Order: sequence, then structure tokens, then C-alpha cells
Amino acid sequence: MNDILPEHSHVWQFLEDCAREVFQSAGYCEIRLPLVERTELFSRAIGEVTDIVEKEMYTFEDRNGDSLTLRPEGTAGCVRAGIERGLLHNSQPRLWYSGAMFRHERPQKGRYRQFHQIGVEAYGMPGPDVDAEQILLVRRLWQRLGIRAELRLNSLGTPESRQEYRAALVHYFEQHQSQLDEDSRRRLHTNPMRILDSKNPALRELIEAAPSLPDYLDADSREHFRQLCQLLDDAGVDYVLDPRLVRGLDYYTRTVFEWVTDALGAQDAICSGGRYDGLVTQLGGRPTPAMGFALGMERVVTLIEQQAPDRPPAMLPHVYVVHSGEPARRLAFEVSELLRDQVSGLRLMLNCGEASFKAQFRRADNSGASVALVIGEQEASTRTVQFKPLREHSEQQAMTLDALPDALAALIDR
Ligand code: HAM
Repeated sequence: MNDILPEHSHVWQFLEDCAREVFQSAGYCEIRLPLVERTELFSRAIGEVTDIVEKEMYTFEDRNGDSLTLRPEGTAGCVRAGIERGLLHNSQPRLWYSGAMFRHERPQKGRYRQFHQIGVEAYGMPGPDVDAEQILLVRRLWQRLGIRAELRLNSLGTPESRQEYRAALVHYFEQHQSQLDEDSRRRLHTNPMRILDSKNPALRELIEAAPSLPDYLDADSREHFRQLCQLLDDAGVDYVLDPRLVRGLDYYTRTVFEWVTDALGAQDAICSGGRYDGLVTQLGGRPTPAMGFALGMERVVTLIEQQAPDRPPAMLPHVYVVHSGEPARRLAFEVSELLRDQVSGLRLMLNCGEASFKAQFRRADNSGASVALVIGEQEASTRTVQFKPLREHSEQQAMTLDALPDALAALIDR
């Protein structure tokens, strides 16, 4: 679990602002969901035999003896809210959310126990159009952020076609049981498709020769996927078809995708999602097709810091107000409030805490401000202010309070 420090927080804000803008421009509305849900919601939605449910959830009993869990992801809570609040059948809702998620994983670079996602979910649309829309939204977001990632795409078909594939996989791996590692052997009869996701290099060849999911797709899913690929081709999206992409949550049907990067080491997925047409019914709602994704904010922030030198800089103050003595302090407060009222967008930092002029100028310099406003005894008595440029060699000049707003407004567009 990490602190997000001021030196990084402006990059987080940049990501949040761009995501909000891109999603809202396509009609997605924000939903704010609780951090805690009943444990049962996650085991039913994500699947009993997934890594998340088997070993990664932060689960506790509350004072009533109810089993609660810190959310490991946002989709289950979003579906729960949609069913409870009757959101899912209101003119095809499109939703987005952001916030902290919790998984008790082994921490490493890019993998944390408290991490943050921005997610998008859409309900009631069965066709490949909304799948394409969401993939294009992500591409647009990467472009706005100035980062690059590769899109991997697959279709998991319907639960029925997947059963057939599952049986073929079990049959195949059973014949090669001695080559499987412990984890995969355990998965063989509980969740054999997860074996395909194994990172163990010793299994690579075996996995490569395993039956391939696209060969088992039902005709409707095949056509759905063909149309999605067509829409992506039309929009000039580059993607790699990855028949081994199965995802670690059980709720997916048909389209699944991941955006990956080679710039972050082992934790290479920055955004993942797909279609989950069966989940709403599984959680007690009316049949409702659904499609969504979530991006990992820590990973995307790291990529922005590596790849986007043109990102907006940290928000430094434009002005630092330096003053000495009580009359000057009173005028400094008056001037600061006046300027905050009159100069929109102005970032003004007022010195607080007694200090010599010298120390205050040091603070002004460290703040990054481009101008200091200086108020001493004499300025207090004449109700003027010294305007002192800090980053260029021009003279300081005395100004009346009337002249200040225009002089400072000129700093803002620079
Ligand atoms: P997920 O693949 O488990 O999917 O997580 C989505 C993204 O969250 C990942 O691609 C990764 O960037 C980030 N992430 C996951 N675990 C960690 C971690 N421990 N530390 C840092 N980042 C992490 C879901 O959560 C689905 N709910 C996505 C979805 C929404 N599918 C449909 N709708």
C-alpha cells in the first residue's frame, strides 16, 4: 500500500482529468461505489476458483457477524448497484468509476495490495458496437495522455462453447500431467483455462501446443468477433489476436482484451476488460448483456512519467506574498483575498509563519512562483505592493492595489 506523494499527484490528476473528459464525452456517467461489499458478492461474481477469491481478498467479519470484503475490483459492485437501484434498464446505461481496490497479492513493481482503477461498464447492449466503442475510448485516452500500449484481443465464446473447449483442454493436459507444475495440476479440474495464463517458462511449449480456443467458438460468437474486428480495422486500431488470453476472472463471455506494455516489467497489463453477458443474471438481475474494462492507475501513471514529456507540469503558484510586521500582514491578507476574487485561475501562496525577508524569499523561490509581492512597513502605510519578478532580471516596481489584478492576470496565460 502506497502513499501518493505531491511530486506524483499532479500526474494522477492529469490521468483523472483526461479519463473523465474522454468518458463523459461519449455519454458515460460517473457512479461512486462503496469500498466494502458482502464477501458473497465477489465469490459469486469473480468465481470461487480464481486467484482473487481463493487467496487475495481482504475479508473480515463486522460487528454483526456479516462477512465483508474490501473490493478487489469494481465490476461486481457496479452490477450489484445496477440491480438494486434499477439502473440497468434505463436507456442503456453507460457508467464509469474510479478508486482504490484491494488484493492481497505478492507486492512487486506495478503490483500493489491497495491499487487504483478507473473502470467503465455499459449495460443492455449485446452487439460488438459497444465493445468497439470502449476500445476506441481507451485508444483516445492513451493518445490524450501521450502513452503507447499494444492491444491484445480474444473471444471466449459462450459458456456452452467454452465447456467444450474446457473438456478438450482437460483431456490434453491430463495426457501431459507429469509436465505440469503444482499450481497447474491443482487448476486442472477446477479452472483449466487458467493454466494457459501460467507464467512458468517450463510450461510454455506445452501451453503453445494446447487446443486453441478460437477453434471451439460457436458460430454466433465467431460472427460477433468478426464484426468487432471489422469495426476496429475501420477505425485503424492495431491489435494482436491472442488465443491464449483468458483473463483471471470467471465472468467473461465473448470479447476479452488487454492493453499491454513492455515498459513496466512483469506487470505488463495496463488496462483489461471484456464482455460479461451472464453476470447480471448470475447476481439475481434480469438477463442483461454487459461490457466493461478497468485500467490500473499506478501502471498508467508510471507510463505517463516515462513516455509523456509534454504532460502538464505540476501546478506551481504564480505568486508568493512576502510580508513583515503586523500592518503588512493585514494588508497581505487583504491583497491576497482581493486578487483571489479578481484574477481567475490565479495560484497565490501567502507566506505563513514568522520569518525574515531573506527566509521568505527563499520560500518564494522554492515554491516555483514567478513573482513575489512584497509588503513591508512602508508599503503597508502607503497601501502599495512591490512587484518583484523572481525568474527574470527585471526591476521590482511599486504598484497600487488597483494596478495589481491586471499585472497578475498577465502572468496566467504565460
Ligand atoms: P483486472 O484485469 O483484474 O480486471 O484489473 C484491471 C487492471 O487493474 C489490470 O489491467 C491492471 O492494470 C490493474 N491491476 C490489477 N491488479 C493490480 C495490482 N495488484 N496492482 C496494480 N494494478 C493492478 C478487473 O478488475 C475487471 N473488473 C475489469 C473489468 C471491468 N472487466 C469488465 N469490466
